Amino acid sequence: MQYAKILGTGSHLPANRVSNDDLAKKVDTSDEWITTRTGIKFRHIAADDEKTSDLGAAAARRALAAANLSADEIDLVIVATATPDMQFPSTATIIQQKLGITNGSPAFDVQAVCAGFMYALTTANAYIKSGMAKKALVIGAETFSRIVDWNDRATCVLFGDGAGAVVLGASDEPGIIHSKLQADGNYLDLLKVPGQIAGGKICGSPYVKMDGPGVFKFAVKMLAKVADDVIREAGFTTDKIDWLVPHQANKRIIDSTAKHLHLPSEKVILTVQDHGNTSAASIPLALDAGIQSGQIRRDQHLLLEGIGGGFAWGAVLVKY
Ligand code: UT7
Repeated sequence: MQYAKILGTGSHLPANRVSNDDLAKKVDTSDEWITTRTGIKFRHIAADDEKTSDLGAAAARRALAAANLSADEIDLVIVATATPDMQFPSTATIIQQKLGITNGSPAFDVQAVCAGFMYALTTANAYIKSGMAKKALVIGAETFSRIVDWNDRATCVLFGDGAGAVVLGASDEPGIIHSKLQADGNYLDLLKVPGQIAGGKICGSPYVKMDGPGVFKFAVKMLAKVADDVIREAGFTTDKIDWLVPHQANKRIIDSTAKHLHLPSEKVILTVQDHGNTSAASIPLALDAGIQSGQIRRDQHLLLEGIGGGFAWGAVLVKY
């Protein structure tokens, strides 16, 4: 039985760190409102010349170093992003080029917004389990600051830029134990960027539109269910989970999932305060932070979960 094992992780945040008080000088908000409603304290904003691929490549270099691998040993690159550098080609091929991977292995993006890393990790796992890849680089990278309306206090305080990366390698030992992906397009209006280029013009808003309370309720319900499903389907039990590594959008949503699973806050990796909602980047950012801080250790069991626009959501059970 082939498993996909996490060989190394890395992350990268842009240098420009913006506090809640900084934002309160620009829009009608406050540190108190943002902190109590979301848990967010800071977000990082990419410089004008810093692209999603730059953030992703920086995180990937760190993950490769942690895995003690050279870039050319990678035979699959998957990038989860909703903020690609260009309409095409994929950000994955741009990162492949920036890393100097010249072995001709496949590289492509997956688009599942905040659930993107769950989708990318699960896809890479399937490649490795089927023998189609031996060493995969899975990246979540976003520049959401470019698609938020900085005059809309209901959304601009929530999001930030960043990237996280994981190197997966084929192994006889687990590894990714089980994963579950889900989507329901009937909820697409809860969270979207409706704009698109048609006839040389942007038709519709190019900014994030969100029904915050609607997303909140849906997220709480579906994350609890998918977490239960993945644990049950794996023949696993909640008490054996060492760490919940959730999508970092809102501390209240994370607390709700942890409470549902009867996991105390000491078993939850929480980084939303440091970088806000970085969409597809948030789970690998949290995972890397947990590993770097020494909280997450080898052989521990991790439950990763995320949800976002689509709606799309998923959870992955991993032995680190
Ligand atoms: O990755 C998945 C993507 N998104 C999410 O996970 C977000 C899920 N939703 C949420 O996290 C929460 O719904 C929010 C944090 C977005 C909003 O919190 P809420 O408790 O649901 O607030 P609300 O939208 O119901 O707004 C409450 C009040 C409103 O004022 P009134 O109508 O009560 O006078 C808003 O206008 O808060 C006001 N408000 C703000 N006030 C200060 C909205 N945004 C702000 C703000 N600062 N930034």
